[in-house]
Amino acid sequence: MSVRRVGDYWQLLPGGRAALAVAGESGVTSVQAVDEAGAGRRRQNEVYRAGVYGHLPRVPVAARKLQAAAKKALNARAYAYVAGGAGDEVTQRANRAAFDRWAVVPRLLRDVSSRDTSVEIFGRRLPAPLLLGPVGALELVHADADLAVARAAAATGVPMVFSNQASVSMEECAAAMGSGPDAAPRWFQLYWSTSDELVESLVGRAERAGCDAVVVTLDTTMLGWRPRDLDLGHLPFALGKGIAQYTSDPVFRRLVEEKVAAGGPKQPQPRPTPAAVKALVGMAKAWPGSFRDNLQSPLPRAAVETFLGIYSRPSITWDDLAWLRSRTRLPILLKGVLHPDDARRALDEGVDGLVVSTHGGRQVDRSISALDALPEVLGAVAGRAPVLLDSGVRSGADVFTAVALGATAVLLGRPFAWGLALAGEEGVRQVISDVIGEFDLTLGLTGHTAVDQLSPDVLRRVG
Ligand SMILES: Cc1cc2nc3c(=O)[nH]c(=O)nc-3n(C[C@H](O)[C@H](O)[C@H](O)COP(=O)(O)O)c2cc1C
Repeated sequence: MSVRRVGDYWQLLPGGRAALAVAGESGVTSVQAVDEAGAGRRRQNEVYRAGVYGHLPRVPVAARKLQAAAKKALNARAYAYVAGGAGDEVTQRANRAAFDRWAVVPRLLRDVSSRDTSVEIFGRRLPAPLLLGPVGALELVHADADLAVARAAAATGVPMVFSNQASVSMEECAAAMGSGPDAAPRWFQLYWSTSDELVESLVGRAERAGCDAVVVTLDTTMLGWRPRDLDLGHLPFALGKGIAQYTSDPVFRRLVEEKVAAGGPKQPQPRPTPAAVKALVGMAKAWPGSFRDNLQSPLPRAAVETFLGIYSRPSITWDDLAWLRSRTRLPILLKGVLHPDDARRALDEGVDGLVVSTHGGRQVDRSISALDALPEVLGAVAGRAPVLLDSGVRSGADVFTAVALGATAVLLGRPFAWGLALAGEEGVRQVISDVIGEFDLTLGLTGHTAVDQLSPDVLRRVG
Protein backbone atom coordinates (compact mmCIF):
# COMPACT_ATOMS: atom_id res chain seq x y z
CA MET A 1 0.00 0.00 0.00
CA SER A 2 1.36 3.39 -0.88
CA VAL A 3 0.32 6.91 -0.27
CA ARG A 4 -0.43 8.33 -3.71
CA ARG A 5 -0.39 12.04 -2.97
CA VAL A 6 0.61 13.95 0.09
CA GLY A 7 -2.86 15.49 -0.12
CA ASP A 8 -4.34 12.10 0.64
CA TYR A 9 -2.49 11.92 3.86
CA TRP A 10 -4.41 14.19 6.15
CA GLN A 11 -8.03 15.07 5.77
CA LEU A 12 -10.20 17.14 7.99
CA LEU A 13 -13.32 15.46 9.24
CA PRO A 14 -16.39 17.44 10.32
CA GLY A 15 -16.00 19.01 13.73
CA GLY A 16 -12.34 19.80 13.22
CA ARG A 17 -11.24 16.18 13.73
CA ALA A 18 -8.46 14.87 11.55
CA ALA A 19 -8.32 11.67 9.62
CA LEU A 20 -5.27 9.83 8.52
CA ALA A 21 -6.33 8.60 5.11
CA VAL A 22 -4.22 5.74 3.88
CA ALA A 23 -4.61 5.51 0.12
CA GLY A 24 -3.92 2.48 -1.99
CA GLU A 25 -4.01 1.98 -5.78
CA SER A 26 -7.77 1.72 -5.69
CA GLY A 27 -8.25 4.83 -3.65
CA VAL A 28 -8.60 5.41 0.05
CA THR A 29 -8.56 2.03 1.69
CA SER A 30 -8.85 2.98 5.33
CA VAL A 31 -9.58 6.07 7.26
CA GLN A 32 -8.20 6.10 10.72
CA ALA A 33 -9.74 8.75 12.89
CA VAL A 34 -7.25 10.69 14.94
CA ASP A 35 -8.80 12.08 18.06
CA GLU A 36 -7.92 15.73 17.91
CA ALA A 37 -9.78 16.69 21.03
CA GLY A 38 -7.95 19.35 22.94
CA ALA A 39 -5.63 22.21 22.24
CA GLY A 40 -2.48 20.09 22.47
CA ARG A 41 -3.37 17.49 19.87
CA ARG A 42 -4.86 20.16 17.62
CA ARG A 43 -1.62 22.12 17.71
CA GLN A 44 0.50 19.02 17.16
CA ASN A 45 -1.62 17.97 14.21
CA GLU A 46 -1.45 21.45 12.72
CA VAL A 47 2.33 21.44 12.97
CA TYR A 48 2.92 17.89 11.80
CA ARG A 49 0.43 18.23 8.96
CA ALA A 50 2.14 21.40 7.75
CA GLY A 51 5.45 19.57 8.11
CA VAL A 52 4.33 17.02 5.54
CA TYR A 53 4.22 19.90 3.06
CA GLY A 54 7.60 21.15 4.23
CA HIS A 55 6.19 24.06 6.23
CA LEU A 56 7.79 24.56 9.61
CA PRO A 57 6.48 26.59 12.56
CA ARG A 58 7.05 30.31 12.03
CA VAL A 59 8.88 30.70 15.34
CA PRO A 60 10.81 28.17 17.42
CA VAL A 61 8.58 26.24 19.79
CA ALA A 62 11.03 25.93 22.70
CA ALA A 63 11.48 29.08 24.80
CA ARG A 64 15.26 29.18 24.73
CA LYS A 65 15.43 28.83 20.94
CA LEU A 66 12.67 31.40 20.62
CA GLN A 67 14.68 33.96 22.56
CA ALA A 68 17.88 33.14 20.66
CA ALA A 69 16.11 33.61 17.32
CA ALA A 70 14.62 36.92 18.47
CA LYS A 71 18.05 38.09 19.59
CA LYS A 72 19.33 37.60 16.05
CA ALA A 73 16.36 39.47 14.59
CA LEU A 74 16.42 42.50 16.88
CA ASN A 75 18.78 45.43 17.16
CA ALA A 76 20.93 45.59 20.27
CA ARG A 77 18.84 48.21 22.06
CA ALA A 78 15.52 46.45 21.47
CA TYR A 79 16.91 43.09 22.56
CA ALA A 80 18.52 44.57 25.68
CA TYR A 81 15.31 46.32 26.66
CA VAL A 82 13.21 43.16 26.50
CA ALA A 83 15.78 40.65 27.73
CA GLY A 84 17.35 42.79 30.43
CA GLY A 85 16.64 42.88 34.11
CA ALA A 86 17.71 44.65 37.26
CA GLY A 87 21.31 44.49 38.43
CA ASP A 88 23.09 41.22 37.85
CA GLU A 89 19.77 39.65 36.79
CA VAL A 90 19.85 37.24 39.74
CA THR A 91 16.07 37.64 40.11
CA GLN A 92 15.51 36.60 36.51
CA ARG A 93 17.51 33.44 37.05
CA ALA A 94 15.78 32.82 40.37
CA ASN A 95 12.40 33.02 38.62
CA ARG A 96 13.42 30.16 36.36
CA ALA A 97 15.26 28.16 39.03
CA ALA A 98 12.13 28.19 41.19
CA PHE A 99 10.21 26.30 38.51
CA ASP A 100 13.00 23.72 38.34
CA ARG A 101 12.59 22.93 42.02
CA TRP A 102 9.16 21.41 41.37
CA ALA A 103 8.52 18.09 39.67
CA VAL A 104 5.23 16.76 38.37
CA VAL A 105 4.26 13.21 39.32
CA PRO A 106 2.16 11.82 36.46
CA ARG A 107 -0.73 9.46 37.19
CA LEU A 108 -1.92 6.69 34.85
CA LEU A 109 -5.07 4.97 33.56
CA ARG A 110 -7.55 7.74 34.27
CA ASP A 111 -9.30 8.30 30.89
CA VAL A 112 -7.97 11.66 29.81
CA SER A 113 -9.42 11.50 26.29
CA SER A 114 -11.39 14.67 26.84
CA ARG A 115 -9.90 17.61 28.70
CA ASP A 116 -11.07 21.06 29.70
CA THR A 117 -8.31 23.65 30.07
CA SER A 118 -10.66 26.55 30.77
CA VAL A 119 -10.89 28.61 33.95
CA GLU A 120 -13.20 31.36 35.14
CA ILE A 121 -11.93 34.72 36.38
CA PHE A 122 -14.18 37.61 37.34
CA GLY A 123 -17.20 35.85 35.86
CA ARG A 124 -15.60 35.22 32.47
CA ARG A 125 -14.54 31.83 31.17
CA LEU A 126 -11.10 31.82 29.58
CA PRO A 127 -9.72 29.08 27.30
CA ALA A 128 -6.82 28.42 29.67
CA PRO A 129 -5.33 29.87 32.87
CA LEU A 130 -3.30 32.23 30.69
CA LEU A 131 -3.25 35.96 29.94
CA LEU A 132 -0.82 38.08 27.97
CA GLY A 133 0.85 40.29 30.54
CA PRO A 134 1.38 44.02 30.03
CA VAL A 135 4.56 44.58 28.05
CA GLY A 136 5.41 48.15 27.15
CA ALA A 137 7.25 49.73 24.22
CA LEU A 138 6.52 46.84 21.87
CA GLU A 139 7.22 49.07 18.86
CA LEU A 140 10.86 48.32 19.64
CA VAL A 141 10.37 44.76 18.46
CA HIS A 142 7.72 45.08 15.72
CA ALA A 143 6.04 47.92 13.85
CA ASP A 144 2.54 46.50 14.53
CA ALA A 145 3.37 46.32 18.24
CA ASP A 146 0.30 46.07 20.52
CA LEU A 147 -2.06 45.86 17.59
CA ALA A 148 -0.55 42.55 16.48
CA VAL A 149 -0.74 41.28 20.05
CA ALA A 150 -4.39 42.38 20.34
CA ARG A 151 -5.27 40.51 17.14
CA ALA A 152 -3.46 37.36 18.28
CA ALA A 153 -5.12 37.56 21.69
CA ALA A 154 -8.55 37.99 20.11
CA ALA A 155 -7.95 35.07 17.73
CA THR A 156 -7.10 32.75 20.61
CA GLY A 157 -9.51 34.12 23.23
CA VAL A 158 -6.64 34.75 25.64
CA PRO A 159 -7.03 38.10 27.42
CA MET A 160 -4.52 40.81 26.66
CA VAL A 161 -3.52 43.15 29.45
CA PHE A 162 -3.04 46.53 27.77
CA SER A 163 0.16 48.11 29.05
CA ASN A 164 0.14 51.65 30.37
CA GLN A 165 3.34 51.95 28.30
CA ALA A 166 1.82 50.62 25.10
CA SER A 167 2.85 51.77 21.65
CA VAL A 168 -0.75 51.69 20.43
CA SER A 169 -3.64 53.25 22.34
CA MET A 170 -6.04 51.00 24.22
CA GLU A 171 -8.91 52.22 22.02
CA GLU A 172 -7.16 51.08 18.83
CA CYS A 173 -6.34 47.70 20.34
CA ALA A 174 -9.88 47.34 21.70
CA ALA A 175 -11.29 48.09 18.24
CA ALA A 176 -9.23 45.20 16.86
CA MET A 177 -10.64 42.89 19.54
CA GLY A 178 -14.34 43.43 18.84
CA SER A 179 -17.11 44.78 21.02
CA GLY A 180 -20.44 43.65 22.42
CA PRO A 181 -21.13 40.06 23.41
CA ASP A 182 -18.37 38.73 21.11
CA ALA A 183 -15.70 41.08 22.42
CA ALA A 184 -12.41 39.37 23.14
CA PRO A 185 -11.32 39.80 26.75
CA ARG A 186 -8.90 42.60 27.67
CA TRP A 187 -7.66 44.17 30.88
CA PHE A 188 -5.81 47.41 31.51
CA GLN A 189 -2.58 47.85 33.45
CA LEU A 190 -2.12 51.14 35.24
CA TYR A 191 0.98 52.94 36.42
CA TRP A 192 -0.07 55.34 39.14
CA SER A 193 0.83 58.73 37.73
CA THR A 194 1.64 61.82 39.79
CA SER A 195 -1.52 63.30 38.23
CA ASP A 196 -4.67 61.84 39.79
CA GLU A 197 -6.61 63.45 36.98
CA LEU A 198 -4.62 61.41 34.46
CA VAL A 199 -5.14 58.21 36.47
CA GLU A 200 -8.87 58.84 36.48
CA SER A 201 -8.87 59.53 32.76
CA LEU A 202 -6.93 56.35 31.97
CA VAL A 203 -9.19 54.19 34.10
CA GLY A 204 -12.32 55.75 32.56
CA ARG A 205 -10.95 55.03 29.10
CA ALA A 206 -10.24 51.43 30.11
CA GLU A 207 -13.86 51.01 31.19
CA ARG A 208 -15.12 52.43 27.91
CA ALA A 209 -12.67 50.23 25.95
CA GLY A 210 -14.38 47.18 27.44
CA CYS A 211 -11.67 46.15 29.89
CA ASP A 212 -12.71 43.54 32.46
CA ALA A 213 -10.21 44.58 35.14
CA VAL A 214 -7.54 47.11 36.11
CA VAL A 215 -4.12 45.80 37.10
CA VAL A 216 -2.22 48.37 39.14
CA THR A 217 1.50 47.73 38.86
CA LEU A 218 3.07 48.78 42.15
CA ASP A 219 6.61 47.48 41.80
CA THR A 220 7.63 50.24 39.40
CA THR A 221 7.13 53.46 41.33
CA MET A 222 10.63 54.10 39.97
CA LEU A 223 12.41 52.37 37.14
CA GLY A 224 14.70 49.57 38.35
CA TRP A 225 18.48 49.68 37.92
CA ARG A 226 18.94 48.06 34.51
CA PRO A 227 22.59 47.79 33.45
CA ARG A 228 21.90 46.61 29.90
CA ASP A 229 19.83 49.72 29.14
CA LEU A 230 22.16 51.97 31.13
CA ASP A 231 25.18 50.74 29.14
CA LEU A 232 23.37 51.66 25.93
CA GLY A 233 21.98 54.92 27.36
CA HIS A 234 18.61 53.71 26.14
CA LEU A 235 15.19 54.43 27.56
CA PRO A 236 12.44 53.98 24.93
CA PHE A 237 10.12 56.52 26.56
CA ALA A 238 12.75 59.25 26.27
CA LEU A 239 12.53 58.71 22.50
CA GLY A 240 8.75 58.92 22.47
CA LYS A 241 8.33 55.13 22.30
CA GLY A 242 5.78 53.41 24.52
CA ILE A 243 3.82 56.54 25.42
CA ALA A 244 0.74 56.05 23.22
CA GLN A 245 -1.67 55.77 26.19
CA TYR A 246 -0.48 59.24 27.19
CA THR A 247 -0.40 61.01 23.82
CA SER A 248 -3.93 59.69 23.17
CA ASP A 249 -5.20 60.96 26.52
CA PRO A 250 -7.07 64.29 26.70
CA VAL A 251 -5.82 65.07 30.20
CA PHE A 252 -2.21 64.34 29.29
CA ARG A 253 -2.45 66.40 26.12
CA ARG A 254 -3.85 69.32 28.07
CA LEU A 255 -0.96 69.04 30.54
CA VAL A 256 1.52 69.08 27.65
CA GLU A 257 -0.12 72.13 26.09
CA GLU A 258 -0.09 73.90 29.47
CA LYS A 259 3.59 73.09 29.85
CA VAL A 260 4.38 74.57 26.47
CA ALA A 261 2.20 77.63 27.13
CA ALA A 262 3.90 78.20 30.48
CA GLY A 263 7.23 78.27 28.66
CA GLY A 264 9.58 78.04 31.58
CA PRO A 265 13.31 78.42 31.58
CA LYS A 266 14.82 77.34 28.29
CA GLN A 267 17.12 74.35 28.69
CA PRO A 268 20.51 74.90 27.03
CA GLN A 269 20.35 72.85 23.84
CA PRO A 270 23.25 70.46 23.27
CA ARG A 271 24.77 70.45 19.80
CA PRO A 272 22.55 68.39 17.52
CA THR A 273 23.91 64.94 16.78
CA PRO A 274 22.49 62.32 14.37
CA ALA A 275 21.10 60.47 17.40
CA ALA A 276 19.38 63.63 18.67
CA VAL A 277 17.80 64.26 15.27
CA LYS A 278 16.57 60.66 15.20
CA ALA A 279 15.15 61.12 18.68
CA LEU A 280 13.27 64.25 17.60
CA VAL A 281 11.85 62.41 14.61
CA GLY A 282 10.70 59.62 16.95
CA MET A 283 9.00 62.12 19.23
CA ALA A 284 7.30 63.82 16.28
CA LYS A 285 5.96 60.43 15.18
CA ALA A 286 4.61 59.73 18.66
CA TRP A 287 2.51 62.88 18.85
CA PRO A 288 -0.89 62.77 17.09
CA GLY A 289 -1.42 64.84 13.96
CA SER A 290 0.71 65.67 10.97
CA PHE A 291 4.31 64.51 11.21
CA ARG A 292 5.51 67.58 9.30
CA ASP A 293 3.72 69.94 11.68
CA ASN A 294 4.99 67.97 14.66
CA LEU A 295 8.59 68.38 13.51
CA GLN A 296 8.15 72.16 13.89
CA SER A 297 6.06 71.95 17.05
CA PRO A 298 7.36 72.08 20.64
CA LEU A 299 4.57 69.68 21.71
CA PRO A 300 6.19 66.29 20.94
CA ARG A 301 9.29 67.10 22.95
CA ALA A 302 7.18 68.57 25.72
CA ALA A 303 5.13 65.35 25.69
CA VAL A 304 8.23 63.27 26.40
CA GLU A 305 9.34 65.65 29.14
CA THR A 306 5.85 65.71 30.64
CA PHE A 307 5.73 61.93 30.55
CA LEU A 308 9.09 61.55 32.27
CA GLY A 309 7.90 63.78 35.09
CA ILE A 310 4.45 62.28 35.47
CA TYR A 311 4.50 58.55 34.81
CA SER A 312 4.75 57.25 38.34
CA ARG A 313 4.40 58.34 41.91
CA PRO A 314 6.84 56.87 44.44
CA SER A 315 4.88 58.47 47.29
CA ILE A 316 1.89 56.16 46.79
CA THR A 317 0.67 54.34 49.95
CA TRP A 318 -2.12 52.02 51.00
CA ASP A 319 -4.29 55.05 51.75
CA ASP A 320 -4.43 55.89 48.04
CA LEU A 321 -6.16 52.66 47.11
CA ALA A 322 -9.53 53.77 48.46
CA TRP A 323 -9.41 56.71 46.06
CA LEU A 324 -8.91 54.40 43.08
CA ARG A 325 -11.57 52.02 44.39
CA SER A 326 -14.07 54.88 44.38
CA ARG A 327 -13.15 55.87 40.82
CA THR A 328 -13.86 52.59 39.01
CA ARG A 329 -16.41 49.82 39.00
CA LEU A 330 -13.88 47.39 37.53
CA PRO A 331 -12.16 44.72 39.61
CA ILE A 332 -8.76 45.98 40.79
CA LEU A 333 -5.71 43.71 40.96
CA LEU A 334 -2.37 44.69 42.46
CA LYS A 335 0.66 43.54 40.47
CA GLY A 336 4.02 43.02 42.10
CA VAL A 337 2.85 41.52 45.39
CA LEU A 338 5.50 39.25 46.94
CA HIS A 339 4.96 39.50 50.72
CA PRO A 340 2.05 37.77 52.46
CA ASP A 341 1.41 40.83 54.65
CA ASP A 342 0.96 42.98 51.54
CA ALA A 343 -1.42 40.37 50.16
CA ARG A 344 -3.47 40.40 53.36
CA ARG A 345 -3.55 44.19 53.49
CA ALA A 346 -4.58 44.41 49.83
CA LEU A 347 -7.62 42.26 50.47
CA ASP A 348 -8.48 44.24 53.59
CA GLU A 349 -8.43 47.36 51.40
CA GLY A 350 -11.01 45.85 49.05
CA VAL A 351 -8.68 44.78 46.25
CA ASP A 352 -10.18 42.08 44.02
CA GLY A 353 -7.11 40.12 43.02
CA LEU A 354 -3.33 39.93 43.10
CA VAL A 355 -0.55 39.30 40.64
CA VAL A 356 2.50 37.76 42.28
CA SER A 357 5.30 39.13 40.14
CA THR A 358 8.88 40.32 40.10
CA HIS A 359 8.19 42.28 36.89
CA GLY A 360 10.33 39.68 35.15
CA GLY A 361 13.26 40.51 37.42
CA ARG A 362 13.42 44.02 35.97
CA GLN A 363 12.94 45.95 39.19
CA VAL A 364 14.75 44.50 42.20
CA ASP A 365 17.78 42.29 41.87
CA ARG A 366 18.14 39.47 44.39
CA SER A 367 14.39 39.53 44.94
CA ILE A 368 12.54 36.43 46.01
CA SER A 369 11.29 34.72 42.87
CA ALA A 370 7.62 34.96 42.06
CA LEU A 371 7.02 31.20 42.29
CA ASP A 372 8.82 31.01 45.66
CA ALA A 373 6.63 33.84 46.95
CA LEU A 374 3.41 32.26 45.74
CA PRO A 375 2.65 29.73 48.53
CA GLU A 376 2.86 32.30 51.36
CA VAL A 377 0.80 34.82 49.43
CA LEU A 378 -1.81 32.13 48.78
CA GLY A 379 -1.82 31.29 52.48
CA ALA A 380 -2.53 34.93 53.33
CA VAL A 381 -5.27 35.23 50.72
CA ALA A 382 -6.88 31.97 51.83
CA GLY A 383 -9.05 31.68 48.74
CA ARG A 384 -10.67 35.10 49.13
CA ALA A 385 -9.52 36.39 45.71
CA PRO A 386 -7.83 35.19 42.54
CA VAL A 387 -4.05 35.13 42.72
CA LEU A 388 -2.25 35.29 39.40
CA LEU A 389 1.47 34.87 38.80
CA ASP A 390 4.05 35.96 36.29
CA SER A 391 7.84 36.05 35.97
CA GLY A 392 9.57 33.08 34.46
CA VAL A 393 6.61 31.38 32.78
CA ARG A 394 7.99 29.92 29.56
CA SER A 395 5.89 26.88 28.70
CA GLY A 396 2.71 24.95 29.24
CA ALA A 397 4.50 22.83 31.85
CA ASP A 398 5.30 26.06 33.74
CA VAL A 399 1.63 27.08 33.59
CA PHE A 400 0.78 23.64 34.98
CA THR A 401 3.23 24.01 37.88
CA ALA A 402 2.08 27.52 38.85
CA VAL A 403 -1.58 26.52 38.70
CA ALA A 404 -0.93 23.30 40.65
CA LEU A 405 0.72 25.40 43.35
CA GLY A 406 -2.47 27.45 43.52
CA ALA A 407 -2.24 30.31 41.01
CA THR A 408 -5.60 31.03 39.38
CA ALA A 409 -3.83 31.86 36.12
CA VAL A 410 -0.48 33.08 34.84
CA LEU A 411 0.63 35.99 32.72
CA LEU A 412 2.97 35.38 29.85
CA GLY A 413 5.60 38.07 29.29
CA ARG A 414 8.79 37.91 27.27
CA PRO A 415 7.90 34.79 25.19
CA PHE A 416 5.11 36.55 23.32
CA ALA A 417 7.34 39.59 22.77
CA TRP A 418 9.88 37.27 21.11
CA GLY A 419 7.12 35.76 18.98
CA LEU A 420 6.06 39.27 17.98
CA ALA A 421 9.63 40.18 17.09
CA LEU A 422 9.97 37.19 14.78
CA ALA A 423 6.61 36.98 13.06
CA GLY A 424 4.24 39.72 14.21
CA GLU A 425 0.67 38.68 14.95
CA GLU A 426 1.27 35.16 13.70
CA GLY A 427 4.29 34.79 15.95
CA VAL A 428 2.30 35.83 19.01
CA ARG A 429 -0.52 33.52 18.02
CA GLN A 430 1.89 30.62 17.68
CA VAL A 431 3.46 31.25 21.08
CA ILE A 432 0.02 31.30 22.71
CA SER A 433 -1.07 28.10 20.91
CA ASP A 434 2.15 26.35 21.83
CA VAL A 435 1.87 27.23 25.52
CA ILE A 436 -1.80 26.26 25.73
CA GLY A 437 -1.14 23.13 23.68
CA GLU A 438 1.58 21.95 26.02
CA PHE A 439 -0.54 22.84 29.04
CA ASP A 440 -3.40 20.72 27.70
CA LEU A 441 -1.13 17.75 27.04
CA THR A 442 0.58 18.06 30.42
CA LEU A 443 -2.84 18.11 32.05
CA GLY A 444 -3.86 14.90 30.28
CA LEU A 445 -0.53 13.11 30.45
CA THR A 446 -0.39 13.61 34.22
CA GLY A 447 -3.86 12.10 34.58
CA HIS A 448 -6.09 15.17 34.76
CA THR A 449 -9.04 16.34 32.73
CA ALA A 450 -9.78 19.75 34.25
CA VAL A 451 -7.83 22.61 35.78
CA ASP A 452 -9.64 22.43 39.11
CA GLN A 453 -8.21 18.93 39.66
CA LEU A 454 -4.75 20.44 40.09
CA SER A 455 -3.34 21.01 43.55
CA PRO A 456 0.11 20.96 45.17
CA ASP A 457 -0.45 17.20 45.65
CA VAL A 458 0.41 16.65 41.97
CA LEU A 459 3.89 18.10 42.58
CA ARG A 460 6.95 17.10 44.57
CA ARG A 461 9.62 19.53 45.67
CA VAL A 462 12.89 18.25 44.28
CA GLY A 463 15.34 21.00 45.12
C1 LIG B 1 9.96 44.54 27.73
C2 LIG B 1 9.07 44.46 28.92
C3 LIG B 1 8.19 45.50 29.16
C4 LIG B 1 7.32 45.43 30.24
N1 LIG B 1 6.42 46.44 30.43
C5 LIG B 1 5.55 46.36 31.46
C6 LIG B 1 4.55 47.35 31.62
O1 LIG B 1 4.44 48.28 30.84
N2 LIG B 1 3.74 47.23 32.69
C7 LIG B 1 3.82 46.20 33.59
O2 LIG B 1 3.06 46.15 34.54
N3 LIG B 1 4.74 45.23 33.43
C8 LIG B 1 5.59 45.29 32.38
N4 LIG B 1 6.49 44.29 32.20
C9 LIG B 1 6.49 43.14 33.12
C10 LIG B 1 5.55 42.04 32.59
O3 LIG B 1 4.22 42.42 32.72
C11 LIG B 1 5.77 40.75 33.40
O4 LIG B 1 5.65 41.03 34.77
C12 LIG B 1 7.12 40.11 33.11
O5 LIG B 1 7.41 40.17 31.74
C13 LIG B 1 7.15 38.69 33.59
O6 LIG B 1 8.44 38.16 33.47
P1 LIG B 1 8.86 37.16 32.26
O7 LIG B 1 8.59 37.90 31.01
O8 LIG B 1 10.31 36.93 32.47
O9 LIG B 1 8.03 35.94 32.41
C14 LIG B 1 7.37 44.33 31.11
C15 LIG B 1 8.24 43.28 30.84
C16 LIG B 1 9.08 43.33 29.76
C17 LIG B 1 9.98 42.17 29.48
